[in-house]
Amino acid sequence: MRIGVDYYPEHWDKALWQQDADLMAKTGVKLVRLAEFAWCRMEPREGEFTFDWLDEAVDIFASRGIGVVLCTPTSCPPLWLYEKYPSAVQTGKDGRRIATGIRGHRCMNDPDFLRLAGRMIDEMTRHYAGNPSIIAWQIDNELEANFCFCERCIGKYRAWLKEKYSTVEAMNKAYGNVVWSGEYSSWEQVQPPFGSYPQAWLNPAFMLDFNRYASQSTIAYSDWQAEILRRNCPGRPVTTNTWFCENMPDFYGMFKGLDFLSYDNYPTTSAPDDPEALYTHAFHLDLMRGVKRQPFWIMEQLSGGMGCWLPMARMPEPGMIKGYGLQAFAHGADTVVFFRWRTAAIGAEMHWHGLIDHSNVPGRRFREFAELCSLAQSLEDVQGAANKADAAILFSFENEYAFKLQPQTHGYYYMEQIQRLHVAFTRLGLNVDIIGQHEDLSGYRIVAAPEMYVTDAGVVQRLHDFAAQGGTVILTTRSGVKDENNNCIVAPLPTVYRDMAGAYVTEYNPIGGDTVEVRFADGTLCRGKQWCDVMQAETAEVIASYASEYFAGSPAILRNTYGQGTVYYIATVGKQELYDHLIRSVVESAGVPFAEGLPPQVELTTRTGKDTEYRFIFNNANRYQRFRLNGEEIALAPFEMKITSHGKNIS
Ligand code: GLA
Ligand code: ZN
Repeated sequence: MRIGVDYYPEHWDKALWQQDADLMAKTGVKLVRLAEFAWCRMEPREGEFTFDWLDEAVDIFASRGIGVVLCTPTSCPPLWLYEKYPSAVQTGKDGRRIATGIRGHRCMNDPDFLRLAGRMIDEMTRHYAGNPSIIAWQIDNELEANFCFCERCIGKYRAWLKEKYSTVEAMNKAYGNVVWSGEYSSWEQVQPPFGSYPQAWLNPAFMLDFNRYASQSTIAYSDWQAEILRRNCPGRPVTTNTWFCENMPDFYGMFKGLDFLSYDNYPTTSAPDDPEALYTHAFHLDLMRGVKRQPFWIMEQLSGGMGCWLPMARMPEPGMIKGYGLQAFAHGADTVVFFRWRTAAIGAEMHWHGLIDHSNVPGRRFREFAELCSLAQSLEDVQGAANKADAAILFSFENEYAFKLQPQTHGYYYMEQIQRLHVAFTRLGLNVDIIGQHEDLSGYRIVAAPEMYVTDAGVVQRLHDFAAQGGTVILTTRSGVKDENNNCIVAPLPTVYRDMAGAYVTEYNPIGGDTVEVRFADGTLCRGKQWCDVMQAETAEVIASYASEYFAGSPAILRNTYGQGTVYYIATVGKQELYDHLIRSVVESAGVPFAEGLPPQVELTTRTGKDTEYRFIFNNANRYQRFRLNGEEIALAPFEMKITSHGKNIS
């Protein structure tokens, strides 16, 4: 396992570079990431390239055995470029060019920007192609789906529609444009969602497609960069650093064209009100591992208190720097790069803390980081080891976009049920894969397919086959609601899943912020919220029923035998206890081994290498926890990670 740091030579006096590199080498830092925002220093004037300063920095690291990840600096074109080629600046929803002065202003489709960015990448990659210290490339920085509304992007959008639908009539039909006399008679009439209408007034079919286009536009940009990098600098893996943002590109599509996934990981430094929320860190890591279903990198890892565009947050508590680094390894990361070596003394991010404070005196956080670096060296064998999982949860960007466009009821959001299911599996000490809905399901015993809202025929078929062949499938409310265009399917819910569920919905009730009681057959009382399907069982048996509301007594959770397999249907959005209770019995009946005795906030994961299995037990709580796990006595300090291999302690 490798530890790296994000470093900005262009922010510091040269005298510091050597000192920093010496300390890095002594501490066990194996790589640095450089240059993602440094275009103005690599091409200070159009066509004039200066890599000397970067060569010097790369050499300083290389001479100390520290590898370099170089980045294409395309998220921050220099101001001379925007001045000379104003169309390179993105256009906002109001139809006006956005104000420059921060970062990420570029239009990904502007020909001048693409020409100059292409030349920059070309120069940079040819310059560094022969340098063995360059171990990987990062494309741009934290790419988001392309929501630029310039003429060029509108043209691309129309071309994308034409390619998809061939005729305006076919598009009108797919969107149901007869509503409100919205039928187009030419491609030129199609406008992106400009203006100040509330989103809810816009046609959901049109909006889902616009989101698909915006995502694919970014993926095309990422693929274009990857192609230049590979051509000029063969043999060096290419990635981009991703994160959860407002306009996410479809990660599955984006990373298909890249060699490995990297993710920017900033776990919260203060305990959230809801302790369940602490499992979110594990959730994000499992989701990231599932994108390419292989080990991944953290390209930016929490190093200090966050700040700048937020009020400054608490510093990481003792144990967090090391513990969260190890947690990433436990969930499948092979390399963790910390953001950043030293807190910036200049620029907007001067309060987003690095490992070393402005004092330049390595302190408590740095000492913990140093401990992590030496431990990482003893874990070299874990590199590449897989997190083998019996249980998977399906994720889909189609659903992510569609639910964002039409939040179903007060408080409803797509990720919630996925997260609650993930917590329930995690509490039983199972490795859980969160994978794209189009993935092959073979090898899993249980597949949770929550909120299969926008229907994809291939996915529906795979779930049917998986259950028919003996798998366990968990379906939930809001499944089979929409066709592939995001229009409603006219049939009783869950429409295409009705045969699997062995039940159908006679009516539904979005109860929003209210709660409903759900009683399991064994008497356990749990609560649901937000949404209730009122169900009629056909072949399914009822394992829990509503115990309040006018539909009290009707089924809330059902189990159906489908082919050789079993299908569960959860008709409401449960509170966590509902999933905990249900999933334990699902796992037991599926015969999947699980751990007895994990206390809340303790995570157990395993990574399996060629001849070794590593077991990671992490206490993601700021209190000591002592417990018996399958009979073994374990005590963990706050944020402590215990790693064992075949019963031998490693940490
Ligand atoms: C993101 C960016 C970094 C930096 C950090 C912290 O992850 O990629 O450049 O801005 O946030 O603010
Ligand atoms: Zn544009």
